[in-house]
Amino acid sequence: MSRNPRSPRCATPRRYLMCSPAHFKVTYSINPWMDPAKPVDVPLAIAQWEDLRDRYRSLGHTVEELTPRPGLPDMVFAANGATVVGGRVLGARFAYREREPEAEAHLEWFRTHGFTEIHEPTHINEGEGDFAVTASYVLAGRGFRASPLSHGEAQECFGRPVIGLDLIDPRYYHLDTALAVLDDTADEVMYYPPAFSPGSRAVLRRLFPDAVIAEEPDAVALGLNAVSDGLHVLLPQAALGLFEPLRERGFEPVGMDLSELLKGGGSVKCCTQELRS
Ligand code: ARG
Repeated sequence: MSRNPRSPRCATPRRYLMCSPAHFKVTYSINPWMDPAKPVDVPLAIAQWEDLRDRYRSLGHTVEELTPRPGLPDMVFAANGATVVGGRVLGARFAYREREPEAEAHLEWFRTHGFTEIHEPTHINEGEGDFAVTASYVLAGRGFRASPLSHGEAQECFGRPVIGLDLIDPRYYHLDTALAVLDDTADEVMYYPPAFSPGSRAVLRRLFPDAVIAEEPDAVALGLNAVSDGLHVLLPQAALGLFEPLRERGFEPVGMDLSELLKGGGSVKCCTQELRS
């Protein structure tokens, strides 16, 4: 699907699920960003997270809150708990034991909030960490977390073609650390090519010839861990190199400071699960 370059960008109201970092800590290390020796400032993490939540609300979006549970320090990364497309929920199944109980907390939230089409997965998938929804496809990362078998499960659940993409750099262990959807009505994305295998890079070039291509300093700032409403693109403020290319395409970049959550290996997108109706 292509977009008329003269038509203005348009934000559409979204519904997000977020979970406060009230119990955020780095007590184990399951990605290269996590160093349990580095202290985490929880009040600062909460303030940064509230800033993100309030920014969504001020942009007219709905933010639902999942109650954080003690002993689940990564629960703030709510994007990993499920994938929702057209009101259908594909639950998560975490790769590491430390995060396993988060899947049930999410399922329980969906069951008690009016969702009736809930699929409990057989294969490992960490929700929107590895699934990205564009107009035509579900892009699906693999290599570090999601099982390749989860791709078939997502295709069956959502009835959309699932495009498997191989991640090769452990710093970009989830698809959403290396690629962001900018316009989900027109298949527009931004991504960091070195995070992908050569074959997957070729697939991305073929599907998204006009993508915004990120450079290393912006990728390392987790600049691809971004959320777009079709107009505003919320992204880590340190990813300065992405601001101009986004503006040139008519987007409004909104820099956020989530430095404390970066210690867990996540930023804007990781904290945000989109509930697509
Ligand atoms: N510490 C978490 C983990 O390694 C971070 C998850 C970040 N979430 C994301 N959607 N990329 O699982």
